Amino acid sequence: MEYDSRYSKKEFYWGLKPHNLVVDSIQHLPSNAKVLDLGCGEGKASFFLAKNNFDVTAIDFSEEGIKKLNEFAKKENLKIKADVSDVKSYLQDCEKFDAIFAMNVLQFIGPKNIFTVIEKIQSKTNPNGLNVIASFVAENPRQKKVVLSKDRYFFDEGELRELYKDWKILFYEEKLGDWETHGEPKHRHFLVKLIAQKK
Ligand SMILES: C[S@@+](CC[C@H](N)C(=O)[O-])C[C@H]1O[C@@H](n2cnc3c(N)ncnc32)[C@H](O)[C@@H]1O
Repeated sequence: MEYDSRYSKKEFYWGLKPHNLVVDSIQHLPSNAKVLDLGCGEGKASFFLAKNNFDVTAIDFSEEGIKKLNEFAKKENLKIKADVSDVKSYLQDCEKFDAIFAMNVLQFIGPKNIFTVIEKIQSKTNPNGLNVIASFVAENPRQKKVVLSKDRYFFDEGELRELYKDWKILFYEEKLGDWETHGEPKHRHFLVKLIAQKK
């Protein structure tokens, strides 16, 4: 699994500082809301959500990520239900949530499944619940083609907003992200960020 070796190190590969989008989203959630962190990695969003007393379920297909999340949660006395699972199969049978977070994971879902996965995320959200998504936008047709050839998916400009046209959009942004240095040469991504509320 691509991320296992990264997550098996002592340091947190993605750090522990929660994403601003996740921090901003919780003002729209009732206390004790039941939330799902899809592709949670080592758990930085889940830790923040659990610290804020939400009822957190977290899944990732990296065993090392879930192991590290569980160890940290135990140490910090945070209650998180964490499972090794694939986003696609998990969404088939799971219960409904008040908020579903998909932070930097949907780019890994290939073109055959991405729209079914978005539909599932939407249908597994309770009325008035939130979807909080950060993912990638293709910068040009050449990049899109390369990404598709690797069975991954970057959205077109405006595409994610269109997929949420029946929801109330609380935040939407498409913009070039900051320079990142993790694991590879310095790089930056064209990002889409969304907070949407089910009507
Ligand atoms: C870029 S990391 C983001 C981790 C975390 N959400 C964060 O923002 O720190 C992407 C994560 O998605 C997980 N992932 C990718 N495809 C997945 C799938 N189909 N099912 C479950 N997890 C997946 C990877 O194992 C990895 O931990």
